[in-house]
Amino acid sequence: MVRAPISSTDLRARAKARLPRFAFDYIDGGAGEEDALARSRQAYRETCLRPRVLVGSVSPADLTQAWLGQSWAQPFGIAPLGLPALAWPGADLALARAAEAAGVPFVTATPGTATLEAVRDAAPTRSAFQLYVGASAEITEDLIARAERAGYRTLVVTADVPRAGKRLRDLRNGFGLPLRFTPRLAADLALHPRWSLATLRAGAPRLANFATYAEAGAGAQTLAQLMARQSSGRLDWDVLGQIRARWSGALVLKGVLDPDDTERAVKAGVDAIHVSSHGGRQLDGAPATLDALRTIRATVPLDVPLAVDGGVRSGEDILKALEAGADFVFLGRPFLYAMAAEGKGGPAALIEMLAAELEAAMAQTGRRSVAEIRSGASG
Ligand SMILES: Cc1cc2nc3c(=O)[nH]c(=O)nc-3n(C[C@H](O)[C@H](O)[C@H](O)COP(=O)(O)O)c2cc1C
Repeated sequence: MVRAPISSTDLRARAKARLPRFAFDYIDGGAGEEDALARSRQAYRETCLRPRVLVGSVSPADLTQAWLGQSWAQPFGIAPLGLPALAWPGADLALARAAEAAGVPFVTATPGTATLEAVRDAAPTRSAFQLYVGASAEITEDLIARAERAGYRTLVVTADVPRAGKRLRDLRNGFGLPLRFTPRLAADLALHPRWSLATLRAGAPRLANFATYAEAGAGAQTLAQLMARQSSGRLDWDVLGQIRARWSGALVLKGVLDPDDTERAVKAGVDAIHVSSHGGRQLDGAPATLDALRTIRATVPLDVPLAVDGGVRSGEDILKALEAGADFVFLGRPFLYAMAAEGKGGPAALIEMLAAELEAAMAQTGRRSVAEIRSGASG
């Protein structure tokens, strides 16, 4: 019998075996030579935790954390992910349901493969909406209005896609939407029959949030073109100010790596900063996000809420990010690996695994609660 995955590395290996090459590479890859991707990961490898002993680690550590006016069961959540159904059909709703059940945030992305309304139904208290500000101001406004009507309380505006990232794996694989049927793609699909049959049954992944903007009966190509125009290019401080004035809920700016930008965003009325390099998928020269987090935390007031993502693969990594000054930690790829490896049960199992690893790491380092880490108290 095959051993069940016991780490996110195991999940990645199983996802690699199960997914067609183009889908795995889309999820796993980064921009350029993938230096930014490796750099963010390396920063966690090089960071050590400081074990403290005999500090009452007998009872379980308290992992609850406050973030954007809500209390969460864990200090980590699921980052926004475009085209999640490429990992497994129905991924958007499976991620949403797992987040709702576990009491952690799930940020559904503008290029999601279920509508933002369906995600909100599946996670009525734990979902947030990630917005790309693109060429059409009408579509941007409509997405915000839809998020408001659906009951979202948090809008995450992604700032690090002024241009599309140059992802060499996707270019080499000829990956784009709609999928172009080449002999190579046919062979890739034939070698991965489980995924291919499941996807055939469910229908090819669709950019569901855009369906209403394409003319009736429009095919995937039109949706993809719309999405391309809607994912980049239109965001500046003025537009951010307009969104702040327009959106009454919590507003997060994602993709910030610079202390001056952080300060300016806070002045613009943003409620939290999400330190991110888009998982190394945009700028290959981007710094390690753990390093950027430390720099930003050192320069902003302690009460400015900071989240971080990029290269977090275990409970110990989550603790390292919290120790470096994050209030909240997000993971992207591991949740898609979990979907691909384990199907709909994957995300819940991953949340449970990360929570157990985090609790154990806190016990090892004498941390009794997540809240005490950020208050600077030590055991
Ligand atoms: C397949 C994939 C698609 C993504 N799509 C989006 C997106 O649509 N919007 C967004 O803000 N970030 C997107 N991201 C970036 C993630 O939100 C997050 O910043 C990144 O995955 C964190 O790094 P990690 O994967 O190492 O955890 C995507 C990441 C991946 C891997």
